Amino acid sequence: MLDSVLTIKHLEVSIKSRDGLVNEVTRDVSLDLGKHEFVSVVGPSGCGKTTLLRTASGLRMPSGGEVLFEGKLITDVPQGISIVFQEYNKSLFPWLTIAKNVAMGAREYSSAEREKRVEAALGQVGLKGFATRYPWELSGGMQQRAALARAMVSNPRVLMMDEPFASVDALTRNHLEDVVQKLWTDSNFSALMVTHDVGEAVYLSDRVFVLSARPSTILAEIKVDLPRPRSQIETRKMLRFVELQAEVLERVEEAGRQSVGIENYD
Ligand SMILES: Nc1ncnc2c1ncn2[C@@H]1O[C@H](COP(=O)(O)OP(=O)(O)OP(=O)(O)O)[C@@H](O)[C@H]1O
Ligand SMILES: [Mg+2]
Repeated sequence: MLDSVLTIKHLEVSIKSRDGLVNEVTRDVSLDLGKHEFVSVVGPSGCGKTTLLRTASGLRMPSGGEVLFEGKLITDVPQGISIVFQEYNKSLFPWLTIAKNVAMGAREYSSAEREKRVEAALGQVGLKGFATRYPWELSGGMQQRAALARAMVSNPRVLMMDEPFASVDALTRNHLEDVVQKLWTDSNFSALMVTHDVGEAVYLSDRVFVLSARPSTILAEIKVDLPRPRSQIETRKMLRFVELQAEVLERVEEAGRQSVGIENYD
């Protein structure tokens, strides 16, 4: 892609476990993330989605292939990439207030600038009145909003999310999807999201990649041609939404059958 922000080329990741065995997690994954594009990655449990995100963000080095961020080889987590992890209860510091947690994402700014950014980020995620609270005083959904604010406070060019809403109830999840959608619409960042929720992937994305079972390769790339802005009620009842969801689901199930062996699948 001409204006690709993040390029993952023939990525290969093998992890050596403590007993010395080498576990081939990712065999050959290539994908690119365009400027202000929203891309999701789905695939069976254990196929290497988290490993892919960790490698794409520079937290882990690949065994083969490469990751380029704005044309430069990634060797460490670069400024400009923010990550939201699944477990909000582990990603926020319990001894810091929400404002101080969010400020951790903006350490490179002067304190006046930081304060301004923290306030704006809390406003963007709907947590304006919660700056002085502690994470444990907030619901799970609100903690995940805080984690999003911390990721957004540095004004990233790429926002990566690893199953960010997996631990909240369905209604809260829909609200949080719309928080992310609004952040993305109002800003200029590109999003790379891992999710196991096929409907969520289709609802938010421009393209959805389906990973095969481990060692993972790209099984399918599905373009989501749904109009924006999208709304939970209107979009999810569109025939095209239902068709796309079924298409992605079919490919994920295909990958799932590979991983457990078709003979004992049902
Ligand atoms: N630090 C590690 N040491 C050893 N093996 C690892 C390590 N991290 C990941 N793995 C192996 O890599 C494989 C893929 O793990 P990963 O967490 O990337 O999968 P996933 O697709 O994110 O799974 P899930 O859907 O359950 O979140 C697993 O089989 C796991 O055993
Ligand atoms: Mg994972």
